[in-house]
Amino acid sequence: MCGIVGYIGKRQAAPIILDGLSKLEYRGYDSAGMAVFDGEKIHMEKEVGRLKVLENLTRGGETMKGVLGIGHTRWATHGTPSCVNSHPHLNREGTIAVVHNGIIENYITLRKLLQEKGYEFVSETDTEVLPHLLDYYYRKKGTPLAAISSLINRVEGSYALGILFADHPDVMYAVRKDSPLVVGKCPDGAMIASDVPALLKYTRTVYYPDNQEIAQLREDGVKFFSLDEEEQEKESVTIDWDADAAEKAGYEHFMLKEIYEQPRAVVNTISPRIKDDEIVIDELKMTDEELAGVRRIHIVACGSAYHAGVTGKYVIESLARIPVEVDVASEFRYRNPILAEGSMVVVISQSGETADTLAALRESKARGFRVLGIVNVVGSSIAREADSVMYTWAGPEIAVATTKAYSAQLAALYLLAVKLGRVQGRIGDGDYREMLSDLRSLSTQIELLLGQKEKIQKFANRYVGARDIFFIGRGIDYAISLEGSLKLKEISYVHSEAYAAGELKHGTISLIEEGTLVVAVATQPDLYQKTLSNIVEVKSRGAFVMAVTGEDNREMEKAADYVIYLPQIKPCFANSLAIVPLQLFGYYVAVGKGCDIDKPRNLAKSVTVE
Ligand code: AGP
Repeated sequence: MCGIVGYIGKRQAAPIILDGLSKLEYRGYDSAGMAVFDGEKIHMEKEVGRLKVLENLTRGGETMKGVLGIGHTRWATHGTPSCVNSHPHLNREGTIAVVHNGIIENYITLRKLLQEKGYEFVSETDTEVLPHLLDYYYRKKGTPLAAISSLINRVEGSYALGILFADHPDVMYAVRKDSPLVVGKCPDGAMIASDVPALLKYTRTVYYPDNQEIAQLREDGVKFFSLDEEEQEKESVTIDWDADAAEKAGYEHFMLKEIYEQPRAVVNTISPRIKDDEIVIDELKMTDEELAGVRRIHIVACGSAYHAGVTGKYVIESLARIPVEVDVASEFRYRNPILAEGSMVVVISQSGETADTLAALRESKARGFRVLGIVNVVGSSIAREADSVMYTWAGPEIAVATTKAYSAQLAALYLLAVKLGRVQGRIGDGDYREMLSDLRSLSTQIELLLGQKEKIQKFANRYVGARDIFFIGRGIDYAISLEGSLKLKEISYVHSEAYAAGELKHGTISLIEEGTLVVAVATQPDLYQKTLSNIVEVKSRGAFVMAVTGEDNREMEKAADYVIYLPQIKPCFANSLAIVPLQLFGYYVAVGKGCDIDKPRNLAKSVTVE
């Protein structure tokens, strides 16, 4: 979605804002703009296209003088990508500037009211009501704080805002509701941003404002105010990511770097939770007795996090014998789900800001159910609102296509599954020991697979021109097929479908033509033969088959045209290995096609709108 950066301090603001915005490029955007107070008035520049265009226009920010400014990269929702629709937006006199991430839901009503009061609109955006409304309240109430507080009371929807008042050039304001916003205290000033990577170069001391809490930033400090303008006590958080966490560190793309960071993401998620040969997940805030009383689990998430949830369902049901329902969050929130006594709700999200997942969390809490969040971003909305949080320690993920966060989500779900299986008396001592040992060795196994990079690259090069690619698998292998297919299509734009292998012949097999690539995933020994039969079915219709299977399944060579073998692991954890070649395959097809790997078209890293 959109990205916001603001700076106030001793240094020239515009170059810092541009640098910060460049760290948010993964959020996806179609235009960019900045507003800087130049000592006399607010000076604004906006351009359609990549940030580079704005950088060139302002010579890296040099042409915009001033130490107070806000910037924005826009991902169009209301109105086409154009200069006039891009942010910042101003009031008529140009004395109030606003950047906004989110959606103002009642903007049509507000626009009408303001027009009746004589305000004129120039853009098609929902955002433009904000500077006009601020202008209206500022005239009425006399102070920026009172104007912002009145605005918050009138506006419905989600927002993270950066606000400048030309009358108050020594202060910047920011406020959020259901959209991400981080406030940083730097040695020479203060900053706001939609995400931590934009601040890392300037500070590690940050604050996470609560919903509707107003931040007041000055060169010498940051204050927070409630809606009734009372100052709030707020603890800062120190970010301890290493400096190159948000840099490519020599890799061609963030996605490849993050694929390579998977062993670390997995080990960081698993290791701290295995203590003295026991799985200990203190963050659950549930005793073993309480866990033993769980009768049903609802997993809710979107996209890849949903796919992790589908794997989680298979693993939890098989190890703990607890029924699991998995829902896409946008469906869950409107389908009036039946949550019975003894149900546990688990929401999964890398960003912790996905609007639909957040809404599902709130819906579950409103019905009186405890919600566990499996979240990667510390301090994100989901992390703050969930009753308990199990962090996936994948570190910052920049590429739009998730890889290491997905792998860390799988790891977290395995821990939960084994823990539940153990306390529910389904896993005996011997199996438990073996499972812990497999979980500990998962990262080394992933490392081994990464060694096959060249082989997969060569194979992927042959499919750069492919029109359709199908992924098939049964059970857990179906779950991994969903994720493999999504990885390929989101970054390479090659049409792809994932099918439960036995379901293909009920329709989709009609799409198989001579040479169509079918990727068959077969990691479950009890299903090898079944999937082999499905491979034979598609091959006899002309398909070329690449199989991903366990190293004990040498029979696969007779059926498939190309085989990738996975190291030995308990079948319930095999998805963590099978996903690696599929990620690399998607990545190299996209590289071969010359796609924008880290910022695929039309997509954004965190989807903060419905
Ligand atoms: C994955 O590659 C996608 N970019 C997307 O499906 C993502 O997983 C989804 O939007 C959910 O995001 P979240 O994990 O931040 O909630």
